[in-house]
Amino acid sequence: MEITIEYATSGLLEELHEIERQCFKKEAFSKNELGILLTAYNSVGLIARVNHEVAGFIIGAIEVNQSASIGHILTVDVTPKFQRRGVAQQLLQAIEDIFRAQRVTSCYLEVREDNVAALSLYEKAGYRKIAKLENYYPTGHGLYLKKNL
Ligand SMILES: CC(C)(COP(=O)(O)OP(=O)(O)OC[C@H]1O[C@@H](n2cnc3c(N)ncnc32)[C@H](O)[C@@H]1OP(=O)(O)O)[C@@H](O)C(=O)NCCC(=O)NCCS
Repeated sequence: MEITIEYATSGLLEELHEIERQCFKKEAFSKNELGILLTAYNSVGLIARVNHEVAGFIIGAIEVNQSASIGHILTVDVTPKFQRRGVAQQLLQAIEDIFRAQRVTSCYLEVREDNVAALSLYEKAGYRKIAKLENYYPTGHGLYLKKNL
């Protein structure tokens, strides 16, 4: 199975939102919210294709403060049909490579504490738990994970 990674374009918004809905159901970003994330000045959006079909996407942002540039992973979604084949792992590696090229030295993200699939993905990729985020989500707690790049 060949996985190719490309930059996301707003022309794909409809397709990406459909994947977002399949992945998150009630807690999905709206199409409008996804569009805002994708087009923010500091955003990095990538898609993965399998046999030309969009299998998943990742959106991150580069946050610059006085002393450092920090990467923030906002969402990673893989359509159920293509899950468990390494798509998310490749998307994560690709965005981290882009972050490193932009002199980003660490990367963080928030995840639901009961999201077993995402937690294993991130832990396998070297992210470590830094803090618990009480009631971060409308229906549950979150975890703050971080990795040095
Ligand atoms: C989390 C998600 C992005 C993983 O995507 P994926 O392409 O299936 O993940 P990969 O195939 O790259 O998996 C990499 C590793 O993550 C872990 N993993 C992935 N899915 C898992 C699952 N369902 N259960 C346990 N571990 C899992 C495994 O360690 C896996 O390695 P392995 O297959 O060699 O064991 C996908 O399940 C998804 O879209 N979920 C809904 C959206 C979501 O929760 N996104 C994260 C929000 S922070």
